Amino acid sequence: MSRRKPLWRMFFALMAMVLLMTGCGDKTMNIFEPKGTAGEQQLDLVMLSVYIMLFVFAVVISIYVYVLVRYRQRPGDDAPPKQVEGNTMIEVLWTAIPVILLIILAIPTVSTTFSLAKEPPEEDSIRVKVTAYQYWWMFEYPDLGIRTSQELHIPVGKKVFLELESKDVIHSFWVPNLGGKTDTIPGKTNTMTLDAKEPGVYEGRCAELCGAGHALMNFRVIAEEQEDFDKWVASIKNPKSQPVNALAKEGQEVFSQNCMGCHAIEGADMKVKGDKAPDLTGFGNRTTIAGFLPNDKESLVRWLEDPQSLKPGTEMPAYNHLDDKKMDALVEYLTNLK
Ligand code: CUA
Repeated sequence: MSRRKPLWRMFFALMAMVLLMTGCGDKTMNIFEPKGTAGEQQLDLVMLSVYIMLFVFAVVISIYVYVLVRYRQRPGDDAPPKQVEGNTMIEVLWTAIPVILLIILAIPTVSTTFSLAKEPPEEDSIRVKVTAYQYWWMFEYPDLGIRTSQELHIPVGKKVFLELESKDVIHSFWVPNLGGKTDTIPGKTNTMTLDAKEPGVYEGRCAELCGAGHALMNFRVIAEEQEDFDKWVASIKNPKSQPVNALAKEGQEVFSQNCMGCHAIEGADMKVKGDKAPDLTGFGNRTTIAGFLPNDKESLVRWLEDPQSLKPGTEMPAYNHLDDKKMDALVEYLTNLK
């Protein structure tokens, strides 16, 4: 009876591991359920290496078990057994087979990597310049003349050609369901082509340890039908940035005195357009604050009062010196930017 216990423990440990490894079924960050061409090609590469590993595992374990059984010590055997040294045939085999397996792995890996980095041939593909900062993302659409932060909008079914750069340290752009990881490196531009085959909100992460706020350097890819994408582009080109009421008007004052040196809002008649922090044009339409907090008034106040405790290492200073009235006004102004 007591000899069974370790087996049960091992069984539960294995089950726990399986649950952990599948992320308990999280579908928003799962490379095994690709929703775009790049993700599908990368999954094919992952599966190819998994099959090769399984093949190697099966062969090695079979030989191992065979040798254990076939050459086990029997009564009357000499000890120690006859010593042998070197076997040219076996050595050639165990050098040649891994080389062949590596070539099988290398050819599709190299060709896929290069083809994903190549500029897409489609005339109507969308070009986006991605710039990583500690700890947020800027997305510029040079052909459309717009920019945004934290949430990358793309039309479904179109190839999106990304030119990735960094303003400070090395980060890595990763959208598990769509593709990645592609490093963003200061002074160098990496490229990658993505697409989304169905509309949806795809979670993105920074996949390179880049400092204290790395774990919260989240972003989202919002894939929508062409019509909705066009509406979004129009809303960024002609944003509703004028204060909607007296309180918001006061909030705009607070913004221009405190925030404008770093943040920009298009169409808000402001003389300085900051470039050191996320562009806040259309902020009220975003799904998150700072990439990871829900976009509601309560979270916005928490973020403005003490960003450091929420995202360690952020450049965003605390605005806990604003009195309640000014804070209310600022929040009213920001949440109504559409
Ligand atoms: Cu940026 Cu990790």
